[in-house]
Amino acid sequence: MTARDLDRREVLAAAGALVGLALPPIGCSADTELALAPGQVAVPLSDLPEGDRRVVIVGENPVEVLRADHTVTARMLRCTHMGCVVRWRPDARIYVCPCHDGRYDAEGNPIAGPPPRPLATVPVSIRGTRVVLG
Ligand code: FES
Repeated sequence: MTARDLDRREVLAAAGALVGLALPPIGCSADTELALAPGQVAVPLSDLPEGDRRVVIVGENPVEVLRADHTVTARMLRCTHMGCVVRWRPDARIYVCPCHDGRYDAEGNPIAGPPPRPLATVPVSIRGTRVVLG
């Protein structure tokens, strides 16, 4: 891997994390109908199409939210090795960390490289038409 490859990967990883910021209501906790605890984020269920992966910023961390088979799961996208932002590769159905080429399977379990633990899960609860993360 060259320094140029690493720079490009870091930019792509950061851009992927920012996608969550660019989505209008996602990441917005200014919901007057829900009492959210500090650090919690509410996302409208309507913003989570079935089978789609969305990135939401919770605190300072990118969290992937996946709605599939009538359930919603959330996973921290911080590598468990040194905290770089991992990204989903749909073609291979794995998460890849750009820093040291750590890899995780589709369930977030480490399968190659230095990551010592699975990607952390984030608590999810459904409140009416909202998904609360954290
Ligand atoms: S920080 Fe992800 S493999 Fe090292």
